[in-house]
Amino acid sequence: MANIEQLTEQFLQHYGGVADGLHVFHAPGRVNLIGEHTDYNGGYVFPAALTFGTTLLIRERGDRKLGLASTNFELAGELEIDGIVYKEEDDWMNYPKGIVNELQQRGYALPAGFDLLYHGEIPNGSGLSSSASIEVVTAYALLSLSGHPTDTVEIALLAQRSENEFNGVKCGIMDQFAVANGKKDHAILLMCDTLAYELVPFNSGSYRLVIGNTNKRRGLVDSKYNERRSQCEQAVQDLKAAFPELTLLGQLTVQQLQDNAHLIKDPLVMNRARHVVEEIDRVVRSVDALKADDLISFGRYMNESHDSLRDLYEVTGDELDAMVESARAVPGVLGSRMTGAGFGGCTVSLVHEDSVDTFIAQVGEQYKAATGLEASFYVCSIGNGVEQLR
Ligand code: GLA
Repeated sequence: MANIEQLTEQFLQHYGGVADGLHVFHAPGRVNLIGEHTDYNGGYVFPAALTFGTTLLIRERGDRKLGLASTNFELAGELEIDGIVYKEEDDWMNYPKGIVNELQQRGYALPAGFDLLYHGEIPNGSGLSSSASIEVVTAYALLSLSGHPTDTVEIALLAQRSENEFNGVKCGIMDQFAVANGKKDHAILLMCDTLAYELVPFNSGSYRLVIGNTNKRRGLVDSKYNERRSQCEQAVQDLKAAFPELTLLGQLTVQQLQDNAHLIKDPLVMNRARHVVEEIDRVVRSVDALKADDLISFGRYMNESHDSLRDLYEVTGDELDAMVESARAVPGVLGSRMTGAGFGGCTVSLVHEDSVDTFIAQVGEQYKAATGLEASFYVCSIGNGVEQLR
C-alpha cells in the first residue's frame, strides 16, 4: 500500500496549497484466475482484485480545469474539463481524459475542476490492468466528489466504454469489472453477457497465488487481440446456419459446437471457437472445484486453460510458455497459466506456501536461461475493488 503522507507531500509540491480538502482513493490491479478471452464472447471469467494498484490524491479547485500528474511519469498537464479530445502526445493522461469525457457524455455534470495526482504500483504493460485501475479510480473519485452515485457496475461499464471509444482499445469488460467490484479474499465469477456475478471466497489453504511477470513487452498485442475477436465473430457467422439467433460464442455448449463443427470451414477459426466454448465450461467446473475445496482440480483446470490458449487460441508465445513450463516442474505447484491478454505479460501459479521460495528461485533461473529475460514475482493476496481511503 502506498505511503499516503509521502504522496501528500508530493501533491503539495506539485500543486501548492494545503492538505485540507485532499481526498484519497484507491483502485487495484487484477489477476484473472481462469476464463481467458471469454469476456468479449459473452462467457464467464474468474478474476480477482490485487492488493496493489493505483492511488489517487484529488482536491477540488476554483475553476473548471483539471490538473493531471503522476509519480510514475514526467508528463503532467492542465486542461479544461469541457471539450476534451484525444491527443497521442498526452500519453497516459488520455486515460483520465477519456473518463471525464465519458462522464459528461453520460450526463454526469462535473461542476468543479480538480487537481489529481496518481501513484501506480502496477508495472505498465504487465497485463495486470494498470489502465483499468486508472480509469476506475478516476471515475469513482469524480462521481463521488461531484455528488453522483458511485454504482460500481455502471463505473465498470463507463470505464470500458472510455477505453474502447476514447483510447481505441477494444477490450472486454473483465478488467474494469474486477477492478471496480473486487472484494478482499474473493474471486469474482462474472457472466460477461448479463453482468450477473457472484463473489466466491478464495480459500486456498496452504497454497499461494504467485504472479510471474515475464517482463516481455507485449508488442502487437492490440492487433492480435482484434484479430482473435474477428475470428470469433467469423465463427458466429458460420454457425448461424444452425443457430440463426446466435450473437456470441458464449451462447453455445461444448456439445453444440462439436455437433456443428462442419459449419466452420477455416480450421483456425474452429480452434479459436473451441478454446472459447471449452474455456467457459472450464470456468464453471473450476469454480465448482474451488467451492468443494478441491484445489488439485482447480490447478489442473488452470493448466488446461493455458494449454488451450497456447495450442488453440495461440496467444501465449515463447516467454509465457517457458515460464509456465518451469513453474509446473516445481514440486508443490498445482497449476500455472498465463493471465490477461497474452503475448507476454504475466503468469499466475498456485504454489504451496513451503515451495514459494524454491519456486521464485528456480523459475527465475530457468526462465532467464531460456529467454535471456529477468522475471519478477509477486506473492499476491486478493484485495478490495475501488474505494475511498480518506
Ligand atoms: C485483456 C482485456 C480483457 C480480456 C483479456 C483476455 O485483459 O482487456 O477484456 O479480454 O485480455 O481474457
